This record gives sequence, structure tokens and C-alpha cells, in this order.
Amino acid sequence: MNTPTFHECYNILRNSMYCVSDIQVPHIQGNSNRVFIVKTPNDDYVCKFNEIQNLNKDMAVNQLYHKYGINMPNLQLKSAAGYLFEFYKFIPARTMFEHLSTGISTQNIQKIYANLIAQFIKMSNISKKEIIQICASHKNIIHIGHKDNDVSLSDFLTDGIYHCDMTPKNIILNDAGEFVSLIDHAKISFVDKHYAFSRMALPYHKMGFDIEDLINAHNNNADKQLKADKIYTTLNKMCQQDEFVLPKFIHINTR
Ligand SMILES: Nc1ncnc2c1ncn2[C@@H]1O[C@H](COP(=O)(O)OP(=O)(O)OP(=O)(O)O)[C@@H](O)[C@H]1O
Ligand SMILES: [Mg+2]
Repeated sequence: MNTPTFHECYNILRNSMYCVSDIQVPHIQGNSNRVFIVKTPNDDYVCKFNEIQNLNKDMAVNQLYHKYGINMPNLQLKSAAGYLFEFYKFIPARTMFEHLSTGISTQNIQKIYANLIAQFIKMSNISKKEIIQICASHKNIIHIGHKDNDVSLSDFLTDGIYHCDMTPKNIILNDAGEFVSLIDHAKISFVDKHYAFSRMALPYHKMGFDIEDLINAHNNNADKQLKADKIYTTLNKMCQQDEFVLPKFIHINTR
């Protein structure tokens, strides 16, 4: 079955869940436009509609990431009116994208990126056996740009299961501007880690920080080193694509 339209999603949630007091869309929308925040008297939940292959991949990756201590919400799969959606507790906090619009300190940004590096290193720790298993069961995890499109050809020296969208819209911070969790499983892929790292570094670079700090922080803490020249080349290409990863106006407090 295909993904329902925006209005179908709304009606499905309204009719299928017990004690719904309100259904909202996030203040800052992502790409899918199929994410809803369902409010109930006890808790608020995020419901994200998607195609079955993507949902199955997201569930598998969610379990794997939790096993390695990576901060992501606990996903469940729910069905209603013949449609499936991801379901998890809403984290009562804002995204880094929203914090950047209203004001955040340099010190906080640096701490957030130290946390992201720690998450990234945990992704690098996923075993070769588990990578092969998840790729065999969920072919759609293999990044479309992967050079071989065939996991058996990988030497696994730099390929792994990485979150390729560690950008401000997918980073949840508490009121003090501290890292709480990553969200959004859509772009978690079997991919070269230099690509995933560059995606993470792009907003940091666009905010005017030196990505050499990020590369050093990674290489001082990880078993396997990143090649700085490969990061710079990939990042340069990404800069030319002019992707929208930051709010139009950002407020960074340098004191
Ligand atoms: N647990 C949460 N707490 C706070 N806000 C959330 C939470 N989950 C989602 N959101 C909000 O919903 C937005 C969209 O969610 P998400 O990133 O999962 O989907 P998306 O970017 O639309 O999807 P895709 O990348 O698959 O196209 C987020 O950018 C964020 O603003
Ligand atoms: Mg998103």
C-alpha cells in the first residue's frame, strides 16, 4: 500500500488512537510532510507515515543503534486503516534548527558537535557481521551513491551504517541548548564514512567554525582515522550544491 496523503494521515490518526486531544504538525517541517505530533492527556507521540520497506529498515536500524548506545528515540511500528507508521514518544524539546533561530552560544555549538562526534564513533563500532546482516535483509539501506551497490564487494575499511542527516533539523536539544537526541532514520545508510562525516560537518562549516577541529576530535578518539583530504573534497562538493541546512537568520552568541 502507498503512503497516505497528508489529509488521510490526519484522519487515520484522529480515528484510530485512543483519547487524542490534538494533532499538530512540527513547527519545523522536514522533507516528508508526513510527520504528526499526536497529543493525548498522558503523553505526546510522533507518528511518521512511510512505505513498508522504509519502515522495516528504520525499525531494524533503530534496534541496532540502541544496541550500540546511539541516542535515537525508541521506535514502534503501528498500523491503522491498513496503513503503517512509525510511532515514538515526542521529546518535549526543540530542534537545533529552532535554537539557531532564537539564539545559541558558541560554547553550546561546540559541545553539541563533540556529542555528535561521539555518536558517529559509536556508529563506526557496529560489527562487520551486523552490517552484512542488515544489508542482506534491507537492501534499501545501501546508499544510492555507494560505489559498488554491492555489500559483498566492500572491504569495510571505511563503509558502515551511518546517519547521513545529522543536521540541525534532526538534532534535538534541551532548553539549555544541550544535545538530547538524534531523530529521523530516513537517511541512515550503508555508506562511506567520509560522506556521512562531511554531511555532519557541513552546517558546522557554514556557521563559520573550523572543521579541522571536528576531524581532530574524531581522530583523537576513534580507532580508525578519517582522511582529512577526503573530507575537504567531499565538503567542497556539498558546498557547491548549496543545500539548505541552516535557518536563513542565525543568532550565535559568542560570549
Ligand atoms: N521527538 C521529537 N521531538 C521534537 N521534534 C520532533 C521530534 N520528532 C520529530 N520532530 C520534528 O518533526 C520534524 C520532522 O521529523 P523527521 O525529521 O523525522 O521527518 P522528515 O525530515 O520530515 O522526514 P524525511 O527525512 O524522512 O523526509 C523534525 O525536523 C522536528 O522538527
Ligand atoms: Mg528530518
